[in-house]
Amino acid sequence: MTSPVLVTGGAGFIGSNFVLDWIAATGEPVVTLDALTYAGNRENLASLEVDPRHHFVHGDILDRALLDELLARHRPRAVVHFAAESHVDRSIHGPAAFVKTNVEGTFTLLEATRQHWAGLAEAERSAFRFLHVSTDEVYGSLLPDAPAFTEAHAHAPNSPYSASKAASDHLVRAWHHTYGLPVLTTNCSNNYGPFHFPEKLIPLMIVNALAGKPLPVYGDGMQVRDWLYVKDHCAAIREVLAHGRVGETYNIGGWNEKPNVEIVETVCALLDEMRPDPAGPYLRLVKHVVDRPGHDRRYAIDARKIERELGWRPEETFESGLRKTVRWYLDHAGWVERVQTGAYRDWLSTNYAARSQAEAGHVGAVPG
Ligand code: NAD
Ligand code: DAU
Repeated sequence: MTSPVLVTGGAGFIGSNFVLDWIAATGEPVVTLDALTYAGNRENLASLEVDPRHHFVHGDILDRALLDELLARHRPRAVVHFAAESHVDRSIHGPAAFVKTNVEGTFTLLEATRQHWAGLAEAERSAFRFLHVSTDEVYGSLLPDAPAFTEAHAHAPNSPYSASKAASDHLVRAWHHTYGLPVLTTNCSNNYGPFHFPEKLIPLMIVNALAGKPLPVYGDGMQVRDWLYVKDHCAAIREVLAHGRVGETYNIGGWNEKPNVEIVETVCALLDEMRPDPAGPYLRLVKHVVDRPGHDRRYAIDARKIERELGWRPEETFESGLRKTVRWYLDHAGWVERVQTGAYRDWLSTNYAARSQAEAGHVGAVPG
């Protein structure tokens, strides 16, 4: 059988889409390593439960002994590294887990991979790849008419999350420069699509609207993000893994800059059409709440390098991708219900209760 790819964080939002699409597109095997934090969900991979091409391992990227054992046993031809703490608001409330997983975890994975790679025979060693999945947030915030981020843009992270991802990018770069580890790094913009945990903007708006709950928009809602349908991101990663130049960084984006208020309006309009609420248009539920501390105003990705070198462009428009996404949430009410556990409810109260109290003039939005 072909050597597998080892996918870290493969039970999360993008990771699970990647694993499902990888097996569907290539037929090649995958070993998924995931610690199953609040964001990891084995149910996302349920369709692969009895598929011999998929092997799931419940474990932590900080566990060096486990990594050594997995690499020796499965002899993957590549590591695709998604595992991370990924939510900016959580990083503001509790940054320690971000440093632990995103920095120390990436370091541990790099070291285990380096040792494994160094012991491979020449043919396997030169074909091996370590692909690090990172974010546009490492570049910091753009002024309204500044050009979009290219790969040459300096790192200037502003949140504990983006600082921890920037640190991991630097480690990956150094492991290539110093040890020759054959790395690739991708920096992608905001994803949306199936299996997106409903703490992030788009799925939160969908599930709250359907439940008749407020749609919390931070500050004036004019912060701009560049949105990409998750399956386009997965296709881009497959291209970079197959044909990317070792040691290079590739920016991935949707050419889709939009302010948050427009995202919320579009979600509401789609829901009005697909699941009308007798009580009235969903936009009535919008509530402006206290802003995210240090909130980056604008991200925009210049994705010309990946198009020029690898021929990748997104297939979905924002309209087609968002329509598919809303449809998916309407068709997967059971999945939504099951992820809204006690832990999810605790998070909502941690993040939003203080914001509402601050609105009413009581306390600040963020614990000191
Ligand atoms: P997610 O939070 O949905 O999933 C993260 C996964 O990693 C979960 O399954 C979790 O259980 C797992 N994990 C966390 N800590 C771990 C550890 N110590 N060991 C093993 N597994 C662990 O995140 P996502 O949105 O799917 O993002 C995946 C990657 O893509 C992250 O590295 C993120 O920085 C990057 N990224 C995300 C976006 C986006 O819009 N979501 C955009 C660009 C880049
Ligand atoms: O840019 C890529 C990044 O996109 C990834 O690296 C992160 O892992 C991913 O979570 C995402 O980060 P954001 O902070 O941009 O995503 P989030 O969905 O949390 O927020 C999107 C925008 O919506 C942001 O400007 C904050 C705003 N927002 C978010 C929430 C949860 C609101 O206005 N209200 C909300 O309730």
